Amino acid sequence: MDHRSAIRRLALPGAVLLALGGCTGGVAGKPGAAGLRDGLFPKLGNGGYDADHYSLVLDYDPARAHLTGSMTMDARATQDLSAFNLDFAGMEVTGATVDGRRADANRAGTELTLRPAEDLDEGARFRATVTYSGTPKTLTDQDGSHEGWLRTADGALALGEPTGSMAWFPSNNHPSDKATYDIAVTVPRGLRAVSNGELTSSVTNGGRTTYTWRTREPMASYLATVAIGAYDVTEGRTRSGIPFYDAVAPAARKETADVVGRLPEIVEWEREKFGPYPFSSTGVIVAPEGSAEYALETQNRPVVPADQLDTETLAHELAHQWFGDSVTPERWRDMWLNEGFATYAEWLWSEDHGGDSAQEHFDEEYAKDGSDAIWAFPPAAPPSAARVSDQPVYVRGAMVVHQLRRALGDDAFFALVRGWTKDRAHANASTEEFVRFVDERSSGKDLDDLWDTWLYGDGKPDSP
Ligand code: TRP
Ligand code: ZN
Repeated sequence: MDHRSAIRRLALPGAVLLALGGCTGGVAGKPGAAGLRDGLFPKLGNGGYDADHYSLVLDYDPARAHLTGSMTMDARATQDLSAFNLDFAGMEVTGATVDGRRADANRAGTELTLRPAEDLDEGARFRATVTYSGTPKTLTDQDGSHEGWLRTADGALALGEPTGSMAWFPSNNHPSDKATYDIAVTVPRGLRAVSNGELTSSVTNGGRTTYTWRTREPMASYLATVAIGAYDVTEGRTRSGIPFYDAVAPAARKETADVVGRLPEIVEWEREKFGPYPFSSTGVIVAPEGSAEYALETQNRPVVPADQLDTETLAHELAHQWFGDSVTPERWRDMWLNEGFATYAEWLWSEDHGGDSAQEHFDEEYAKDGSDAIWAFPPAAPPSAARVSDQPVYVRGAMVVHQLRRALGDDAFFALVRGWTKDRAHANASTEEFVRFVDERSSGKDLDDLWDTWLYGDGKPDSP
């Protein structure tokens, strides 16, 4: 899904495209690019099409760690296509079709190439299916984190930032191509499968239960999740009526109850700060202790390993629902737009709840020596994929946000933040677009020094 595609679609209605297709008959399509040339992850994503919807049907046997899957993607060709790629790591591909006809499937590394029986015309909507099975892989990312498919004592947990989703379903695995999802997961009776969006049915048949989840707001592939295992579920509504669905690993229930119980209050507080809640439901998945190395803002329902759960972390992951999940980075280098704001949300939470003020947090960070890791590179310029989740992206990112607040004053700053989340809701944004947005909305203020020093400058700024 691409907010620009709607414009192109309006300009060229189906009938015109059909007519053009007719005129160009005989001109062969070309293969779509194998990557989107993301500066940090050049092979992620694929060219030549734009995904609108994924429907995943998964069946998992925890005892054998065996997954059987089918992925159906509804997409639109953005060029005449003879073939196109999906990102997929491991497993075995057992079949592929495009528009119901068998398609050739070839694999090289994490690239899966589908060659339809007939070329696809630019603008054509098409449906691709891939069936697959095997034991999904745990991937080690360039930043050293383990993700993809993580086994737990009684089930599994799928986490995908930045690349891990390709371990359990083939997709256009880049944040710039968001799509809606249906995810159906069948597991042994007695276990649950928790995912993004809303649970629309759970049906038990012959000792196995199928949980069907529906995500109607566009989602980046790195935010898709499935948590399989015994989970205690609590449902309710926040004060303003947002439905929540919390799933907590039973062994962690007692020690996490207080923090999980504050979720509705945190979401309501964030609505006041950041604007309307962008999704149709919320909640949290408290995964078993030690099951994952990082918490993740999986859409609607962040995943937090029990041993990492505290109020600030929950506020951080929930803030990502606005910054990252609704307003999604255009490229991986724009990640500070996620982590800077989510870290700043922790500072704001502390400020409003009897802890240190944001200014005190800022001062504490600024006091760090010039050789400290937080000054290693400018927030919007991680030097390599290995550094995409390093301190400058988080801490110095939050310092940029704080400088902006100081320059504009509280009223203008919070109005601007709410304007940003509204303007870019369910879309993508780059650092350059953020800077332009801020500059346009704060006319009369010259923010060039702020950007040059805090956002783009190398090393520790000379003055706070
Ligand atoms: N987004 C996660 C969080 O803030 C952390 C994380 C995991 C991350 N993998 C990453 C951040 C890759 C940037 C890039 O809780
Ligand atoms: Zn974060």
